[in-house]
Amino acid sequence: MFRFSNIMPLELQTQTRLTNNLVARFMNHAYTDGTFEFSRQEQPNQFAHSFLDTLHQNGIGNSQEDAPIVAVLGSGNGRDDYLFAQHGFEVIAFELNQTARDNILSRFSQGGLENRLTVMENFFNNDDLKPRSLDAVYAVSSVHYFNPLQLHELLSIYCGLLRDTGLVGLALKTRNASWYREFREHGLNPQERFDVSDLIKPSFIEDCKVYGYHHELSQEPKGSASIYLTRWYYTIPQLEAIAKASGFKVEASKPWQVENYDRHGKTEEFAYLVLKPIRGAAQK
Ligand SMILES: C[S@@+](CC[C@H](N)C(=O)[O-])C[C@H]1O[C@@H](n2cnc3c(N)ncnc32)[C@H](O)[C@@H]1O
Repeated sequence: MFRFSNIMPLELQTQTRLTNNLVARFMNHAYTDGTFEFSRQEQPNQFAHSFLDTLHQNGIGNSQEDAPIVAVLGSGNGRDDYLFAQHGFEVIAFELNQTARDNILSRFSQGGLENRLTVMENFFNNDDLKPRSLDAVYAVSSVHYFNPLQLHELLSIYCGLLRDTGLVGLALKTRNASWYREFREHGLNPQERFDVSDLIKPSFIEDCKVYGYHHELSQEPKGSASIYLTRWYYTIPQLEAIAKASGFKVEASKPWQVENYDRHGKTEEFAYLVLKPIRGAAQK
């Protein structure tokens, strides 16, 4: 089902194919049942407004002539994609889930902006994109299903797809996310651990252990094996170090509290990072 960028090592391709299959299954349930708040939200994420301001401050998207291109990784229902299109961007929306892709298309059609939209499925399948062709890459809450090695690979690939002036806007949950806190409060140990010491060299950070917890889908029909998805809970220094190891300079990085993102009444801490490619550095 999934095809990968040729430059990805084979073992990592296989591992990532498995992760994507789990994400796809998990999201099929989530979108069918409306389990999470994000799938019903109409308003753009706060990160989208902030990233748009940053793009404008960097001279991206100010001209009426050339439409800049933004790749959105894990678009969900397309609420942020649509905001970018309203501001003149051409949007490449990557989304694994069919229901979500249908929602994106209908949102753009209803707003008469379908000519600014290209819909693609898996953001690891990007061979159709030309090197240094993107003005922006944006991902909210969609890359924490991938372990540090996969995240490093993904960022390295998009580093090569960005123009020299391009920027990444990245938001993902941290260890202060409500789920992580609840797992800890219940005394549960993480099911997955990944030591990033070698991956991030020569950067140094104090805490090199990234923890992953299995999130089970309680809606799984009786009689079938329970399925789960690993969410990786990164710290902000870990994300910064992985971004640097993937060929980026960190332009901005901060914690950001979002209410009612997945579950009503819960506050999630996200890490929000803006990254710029370093040219001439080791990159793909
Ligand atoms: C938590 S949702 C966030 C959606 C949206 N960014 C938002 O904030 O409303 C994560 C989304 O990423 C998508 N996703 C995860 N991995 C993906 C991949 N490899 N390619 C495309 N989409 C992916 C999922 O299907 C899901 O819709």
